[in-house]
Amino acid sequence: MRILFYDTKNYDKVSFEQQLSNFPGIEIEYVKGDLAPKSAVMANGYDAVCAFVSSDVGEETLKVLHENGVRLVLMRCAGFNNVDLDAAKRFGIKVFRVPGYSPEAVAEHAMMLALAANRHVHKSYVKVRENDFSLGGLMGINFYQKVAGIVGTGKIGAAMARICHGFGMKVLAYDVYRNPSLDFAEYVSLDELLAKSDLISLHCPLTEETYHLINRDTIQKMKDGVILVNTSRGGLVKTDHLIEGIRAHKFFAVGLDVYEEEVANVFEDRSDEILEHSTTARLLSFPNVIITSHQGFFTEEALSAISETTLANALVWEKGEASVNEV
Ligand code: NAI
Repeated sequence: MRILFYDTKNYDKVSFEQQLSNFPGIEIEYVKGDLAPKSAVMANGYDAVCAFVSSDVGEETLKVLHENGVRLVLMRCAGFNNVDLDAAKRFGIKVFRVPGYSPEAVAEHAMMLALAANRHVHKSYVKVRENDFSLGGLMGINFYQKVAGIVGTGKIGAAMARICHGFGMKVLAYDVYRNPSLDFAEYVSLDELLAKSDLISLHCPLTEETYHLINRDTIQKMKDGVILVNTSRGGLVKTDHLIEGIRAHKFFAVGLDVYEEEVANVFEDRSDEILEHSTTARLLSFPNVIITSHQGFFTEEALSAISETTLANALVWEKGEASVNEV
């Protein structure tokens, strides 16, 4: 079985090559460019393509893949909001993903963003390097006995809820389904969560329902001085309204691992273009905002689980077996 691997980074190649010996019969070719309608034609002669959150797996791409004989899309990530599933079905292309490869990796990053933004680590790091040991502008709040509001209590949200509970926080949760493992959390309406939480962390997927969940209206419902963290998808937050809220001093701090304009290589190949025109650049200008580059998943354990599950998904597909990883 032959797989064309798009948007390859060195760490992807290392991690997949390490796993390949356990999957004889699978061959992978790696390309740097990302999957899009124009690059899809490169997959001619391959059974499958391996794509990522940044890939364009829309109708046009799927059409080209289909015309070139590709029958499988292996998403090496949990989210699949960038895949047109209806079109994939029409073209007879199966789509697999890697759900929950390491929820703790993302949850730990979410808490890191909350803590770093709260205690102004980004500022103190720079100050101390400049030999300035003064504390002006560095005061934070205790998380102990504060209220954490977790929006979306699936695998990552539940891991974040457990971390917050461990910090001695009261945990409020909002989800369309309850997670029975979170007996310490109190499920409330979204409005109540927004009104009562000192720390709000977003962990629901990006869907039509959750698109711009955080907007002018929901921001107004939040406590003054709230800390907002988004490690899920940029589209959950309407950035212009977030900026309005930051300007109005609504937020004590904001930590973002994902943002609306996120594209492949946001801070690499297209960095000038992105930073000149973007709302991300405007967000970066606020001292109480910390942004990381969609790195929540980026731990050794998570990468190894991603490569192993992606290749296992390929085998399952080849054998025609059913799998919960099929979307
Ligand atoms: P999951 O599927 O285990 O949990 C998602 C939860 O959101 C479910 O409990 C679901 O019921 C809930 N949900 C769905 N619609 C909702 C709504 N309208 N309102 C409230 N809750 C709703 O997914 P998991 O593994 O916890 O991942 C969550 C998200 O994290 C992914 O969709 C992905 O976008 C993001 N992610 C980010 C990564 C990063 O590196 N920053 C890495 C992996 C995932």
